[in-house]
Amino acid sequence: MKIAIIGSGNVGGALAQQWVKAGHTVLIGAQFPLSEKTFR
Ligand SMILES: NC(=O)c1ccc[n+]([C@@H]2O[C@H](COP(=O)([O-])OP(=O)(O)OC[C@H]3O[C@@H](n4cnc5c(N)ncnc54)[C@H](OP(=O)(O)O)[C@@H]3O)[C@@H](O)[C@H]2O)c1
Repeated sequence: MKIAIIGSGNVGGALAQQWVKAGHTVLIGAQFPLSEKTFR
C-alpha cells in the first residue's frame, strides 16, 4: 500500500517505521525535511 504521513514526530515516525517494516511504501511530509530532528 502507498501511505502518506504528515509529520515525522513520535506518532508519524513510529507508524512510518512499522509500515515500512511491513512492506508498505511510506511518504512523510515534514516542515523541515533536511533537519536532523526529522531523521530520528
Ligand atoms: N504521542 C502520543 O502518545 C499521542 C497520543 C494521543 C494523541 N496524540 C496526538 O497525535 C499528534 C502527534 O503527536 P506526537 O507525539 O507525534 O507529536 P510530535 O512528536 O510533536 O510530532 C508532531 C509532528 O507534527 C509536525 N507539525 C506540527 N505542526 C505542523 C505544521 N503546521 N505543518 C506540518 N507539520 C507540522 C511536527 O513537525 P516539526 O517537528 O517540524 O515541528 C512533528 O513532526 C498530536 O496531535 C498529539 O496530540 C499523541
